[in-house]
Amino acid sequence: MTILFEPFALRGVTLRHRLVVPPMCQYSAVEGIANEWHFANYARFAMGGAAMVIVEATAIDPRGRVSPGDLGLWRDEQIAPMRSITAFLAAQGCVPAIQLNHGGRKASCRRPWHGSAPLDDDDMQVRNEPGWPVVAPSAVPAGDKSPMPVALDLEGVQALVGEWASAARRALQAGYEAVEIHAAHGYLLHQFLSPLSNHRTDCYGGSREGRMRLTLEIAEAVRAVWPHDKPVLARVSAVDGIDGGWSLDDTVVLARALKERGVDAIHCSSGGLVGAATMSRLARTPGFQVSFAERIRREAGIPTIAVGLILTPRQAADIVDNGQADLVAIGREALLDPNWPHHARLELQPERGFDDWPPQSGWWLERRAAILRSES
Ligand SMILES: Cc1cc2nc3c(=O)[nH]c(=O)nc-3n(C[C@H](O)[C@H](O)[C@H](O)COP(=O)(O)O)c2cc1C
Repeated sequence: MTILFEPFALRGVTLRHRLVVPPMCQYSAVEGIANEWHFANYARFAMGGAAMVIVEATAIDPRGRVSPGDLGLWRDEQIAPMRSITAFLAAQGCVPAIQLNHGGRKASCRRPWHGSAPLDDDDMQVRNEPGWPVVAPSAVPAGDKSPMPVALDLEGVQALVGEWASAARRALQAGYEAVEIHAAHGYLLHQFLSPLSNHRTDCYGGSREGRMRLTLEIAEAVRAVWPHDKPVLARVSAVDGIDGGWSLDDTVVLARALKERGVDAIHCSSGGLVGAATMSRLARTPGFQVSFAERIRREAGIPTIAVGLILTPRQAADIVDNGQADLVAIGREALLDPNWPHHARLELQPERGFDDWPPQSGWWLERRAAILRSES
């Protein structure tokens, strides 16, 4: 017995079970616009049985794109091409969600398969992809080879709140039922949270309260435009994994404050402040971030999503059955096997057969299984 395949409600949106696909950037958009690749990529996870698919980090501002291939929702023309994705996901019984992001000092980089380094003249010559100036809370670069970011002035910081809300409004028009604020992996909001990257002396820096201010203002603004019956999620790096950085104690305080502002679940990742997106000193062992989800859930009293090297159906079931998290995100395992949720159910509840598969394949597989059983 497991509750892994029991429904889970976030406000008026009910996930059919507890397995979700986390945001995974495809770096394949042009001018931030979704195309057939995005449709096929997200459709396969919905057909594979995910209860919710969170579409990749989508830029709220062109300066905030991590790479030239990031999706965007900074202008209205970017809405319509997403509608086929959200409509298809919903038709498969999968909740369409989207992550909104600003890369801050980690924007303007090459796609991972081009090396992830900051864009330079070579990118202009080889792919006609110029870089752009990056912004951050303070003039502190992400690494030795990273460009010096321009520190946002007060007006620039406050403008982000409206931009985030406008992008959320567009996400709603595109058909998403849940929106996730990306405050993890060393991108702009995480840069504001961490004392290692935020050296501001105004009301958006200094104390933990000051460093949390922008994230909380954005949460309030997004909540204000997002319908009352639909969930707002926040992704956090629960720890920087660097001495003197953002800690798990800080995250518990942040999670409580996000909850007060109407955020419905915390997606618990870690690291990324310096270097690659999730680089940190944490040992990468199976389920290495689950304890963060557990403590935040217990001490902030808010639903959590566990993520990170969750590899087997039994592991996923144990996480929800032991009350460590409410939802389990399956990332790279779903790249390996987009039918991962269906296969997990077959493994843990074989008696249910293929009843939750799309009938276009499930009908045949059920009969094939009966033939194989009768022959053995
Ligand atoms: C190809 C790829 C792209 C990713 N893009 C994002 C992203 O857009 N936003 C984000 O918060 N995390 C991103 N991540 C991190 C994943 O959401 C997830 O946290 C990570 O892969 C760990 O989970 P896993 O071990 O199940 O893959 C990405 C990961 C991969 C593999």
